[in-house]
This record gives sequence, structure tokens and C-alpha cells, in this order.
Amino acid sequence: MKIWLLSIFYITISAHCKVAIGANSNDPTHINFSQGLPNSGNLVLGVYTNNQLGDFGEQIDKISQGDLKHAITITEFDGKFNSTQLITAPRNSGLAQILMVGLGDKGSDHSLTKWEELGGKTIQKAIKSFDQAPALVFDVKNSQINAHMVYGAQLGAYYFDKYYTDEKRVKYQQQITAVSHDVSTTEKYFRQELEPVAEAIWHTRDISNEPANVIYPASFVDRWKHHFRSFKQIKIKVFDEQDMLDQNMGAIYGVGQGSQRPPRMMVVEYMNGEKGDQPILLVGKGITFDTGGISLKNPDKMWNMKFDMSGAASVMGTVYALAGRSAKVNVVAIAALAENMASAHAQRPGDVVTSMSGKTIEIRSTDAEGRLVLADGNYYGDTTYNPLLMVNVATLTGSASRATGKDYAAMFTRHDELVQPFIEAGKETGEQVWHLPLNKNHFKAIEAKTADVMNSGPDAPGASAGAAFLGTFVRETTPWVHLDIAGVAWNDKPTPTKASPGSTSFGVRLLNGYIKTHFEN
Ligand code: BES
Ligand code: MN
Ligand code: ZN
Repeated sequence: MKIWLLSIFYITISAHCKVAIGANSNDPTHINFSQGLPNSGNLVLGVYTNNQLGDFGEQIDKISQGDLKHAITITEFDGKFNSTQLITAPRNSGLAQILMVGLGDKGSDHSLTKWEELGGKTIQKAIKSFDQAPALVFDVKNSQINAHMVYGAQLGAYYFDKYYTDEKRVKYQQQITAVSHDVSTTEKYFRQELEPVAEAIWHTRDISNEPANVIYPASFVDRWKHHFRSFKQIKIKVFDEQDMLDQNMGAIYGVGQGSQRPPRMMVVEYMNGEKGDQPILLVGKGITFDTGGISLKNPDKMWNMKFDMSGAASVMGTVYALAGRSAKVNVVAIAALAENMASAHAQRPGDVVTSMSGKTIEIRSTDAEGRLVLADGNYYGDTTYNPLLMVNVATLTGSASRATGKDYAAMFTRHDELVQPFIEAGKETGEQVWHLPLNKNHFKAIEAKTADVMNSGPDAPGASAGAAFLGTFVRETTPWVHLDIAGVAWNDKPTPTKASPGSTSFGVRLLNGYIKTHFEN
């Protein structure tokens, strides 16, 4: 009887939740590969300059007895890299419409990110032109370039429209077909190297775009646990508020104490490298909502502070990408999660907390909360794992975002030899960084009268002071980099590989690329 009642209760609840949190699923768009041209529907077709077609284009031209080339001539389509032209398909092809996309001069050299962007732009144009994504026939012979274009298209097809109830507004595609020359080579490379990264980016964007009534510390943990469920090499530890008290993590505990949604620290170990090798450690800021606390933020743009957990999402996403590629590395990712609320339980400006390191912190502004959760995350990670390399990813300061804008994350380090490799990885992956200063004066600026350090102060308002605060909880000998992504984690404007306004998942491609270049093989 009891069980019976419970199950009715369960059904009622789940049915109700479905309506309340949006019924559309948002699994990553699945790419199907096909060796042959379709004989109905719409098509994207790559075309070079000077009227030059690839093999698939020639095939269509042949069936249509020259109609395709004729259409190219009369529309004056020049095939320039990035240009597009929509035509009615030749009648004998069976196809409806063709969106031609310019590949530029045959044999010309572009970086792989440029090809990805072309793929992304194309899919966005295609989804706008047709209400369903057409088959993609990029028609380039080079399997690697083709795979990267498909990858770009998959990223470009990301839309966060799960909350639309009007079907007509939904642009999300469950499946897209990519027609390719050498399917086995292209697909193998795509599935092994690129699709895991695209999925990681998808999950990272999703969780960062979700509102704070859906994603809070415990649900952040649950969602990533769900994504990680099939990876055998991944081990997950989660600390709740009692564990934090037991381990003297007073800094993260203090930030979380004002919220009804208790803080969490999620520690994900991916150990697939040499046994016993020191891991790479990634630690992300996971403020699931930042009201500023008692040092309350201005309400105008506060809604956006649901993305203040983007750093934590990006470090989890990076591990997802590495595990999906079965990368032979040891990596640990830590998400330092709390909701920064103003309430009767909230900490106050002037409060003093003791961090796990033993150092005491005077809270000058409850709005400088990211560095507090990271103080304990960094100390725990650095001393537990003795990492080869340690990277913080955090939407830490408005100051960084004003300095480097939407084009670069701000990068800080005490280890100058890390600067150039990170700048290079940024250029290669399309997620760029700019080096900002971190020196003794920045550490001086956070010395406090009442405690060891303070989290903010009259002479310490900037991005460098934030970096110094984080560095205070990392041993000087640990090769450590801090990426302040406050300016780049969110973009209202579409980009070729990100159509939807919102999370950019900044950090996943950069760290995946950095680790691949410097630690794999
Ligand atoms: N989450 C904010 C930083 C932020 C601001 C990110 C705007 C993205 C866009 C962070 O917690 C914060 O409030 N920082 C303060 C620090 C100050 C009180 C020392 C800031 O930057 O104003
Ligand atoms: Mn804040
Ligand atoms: Zn914040």
C-alpha cells in the first residue's frame, strides 16, 4: 500500500517538474556521417572560387547536365571564403534548395579554427534559411579539415532554447547529417578527437546558461555526475558543509552560510596517465549565484550572475573532453561551489574567517566571494595533489573584464615561463589570453590590520589584487596560472561557433588544447 502511494506521488511530481523546468531535452546535436549524397531535401554545398566544384558538386552538376554550374554563373557566386548563396536545386537532383558556401581558393591555407568557424557560420545560416538543418556537404577532400568543419557546425548548432514552449522558436537540432568523401577516416578522427570536446562544450554551456533556481551547488554536482557516469577512469568526491567544517574550510563555508542551498566542493579525479605521476590540477570558481551578499550588487545586471559558476563548469567540461578522448594524462578538477546570498545567516563585512590553510581572512567585501571559495579549493588541491601544473578558472573581477574585454581572458602567474605557452595555446584554440601583472605590491595590498589578509580593500580593488589573493593559498613552488574569465565567459552576441546568447564555455578548448600539446604523448 505504502509503495503504491509513493509511486503515485512520484509520478505526480515528475510530471509536474517536466512542465516547470522545460520539456525540451537538450542533448548535444548528434552528427551522422554518410558517404553518399541524399536525393531529397536541402543541402549545404561547399564551392571553391573560379567555379571549381569538389567531387560531390561535380556529381550534382553531372546529374543536372550542367545546371549547377549554370546557377553559380548566373548568381555570380564567387566562392570566396565565408560567402554564401542560396539557390533552387537543379531539378534532376531531387533536391529542394542548396545553400552554397564559399571555400575560397582551392588549396589555400587556413588554420583549423578558421575552418571550424566557417562550419559554424554555415550551420547558423542554414538553420535560418531552412527550418531544419540540411545535409552538410562541405566537399573538401582533406578529412581533417572536413572533420573540423563538421565540429564547427556542431558547436555552431548549440542553442539554449529548452525553455521555449513555442516550437516555432526552437532552433535546436537533434541530428545533422554530414556527407563526406572518406567517411571512415573522417568519422574516426571526428569521434575520437572532436566530438568529445563538442559534447564537453555543450554541457558546459548548458550548465552555465541555466538559471540559479535550477543550478545550485548540489544540482551542479548531480548534473556533472550524470555526465561523467560512463567514464570508468573518473572518481568523484563531494564535500558538503559538514565536511567543510570538519576540514576547517572556513572561507568557502562562510560564503555559503547565507544561502538555503548549502555549499559543495566537487573533486573529480581523472587518472589515465602514468601511475603515480603528479596530476594537473584545475580549480574553478563555482558561485551559482552572486548577489554580492550583504555588500549587495546593483540590481540592474544582477540576473546575469547566474553565470558566476562558469569557471567551475569549464574545469569540469575540460575533464569531460579529456576523458572522452581517453587522453593519457592525470588530471584533477575541483569545483568550489556556493551561492552568495544576503540573508540573516550571511557573513558580514568585517567578519574574520579561518581558511583551511590556517591563514585568517578579514572580509572587507562580501562581494569578493570568488577568491574566498577558491582559497580553500586551491589550498586543498595544491596540498592534496602536489600538482605538476595548477590552473584557476574564475569569473573573478569586473576589473579584468574592463581591461581585456571580450577578446581575451586575463592571465596571471608567478611563473613567467608559463606565459608564452598559454598565449600560444590561446591562439591555436581560439580562446585567447592576455598577460596582466602580478607582483609583490599586489600581495602587499591585501595585507590586513585585523587578520592575515583581507579579501578586498581600498588599495586592492583590481584583477591583480584578486590574483594575489588566490596566489596566497598556493605554494610558491607550484607552477600556477590564474585565468580571470569575467569578461569572456558570457557573450550576448552570437559568434560563428556559438549562436546562442550566453555562455561561451571559455576555458574548455584552451585547457584541452594546452594539455594535449604539453602533456599527451
Ligand atoms: N562575480 C563578480 C565579478 C564579475 C563582475 C564577473 C562582472 C562578471 C561580470 C565578483 O564576485 C565580484 O563581485 N567582484 C568584485 C570584487 C571587488 C568587490 C573587490 C568586482 O569585480 O567588483
Ligand atoms: Mn561577487
Ligand atoms: Zn562573483
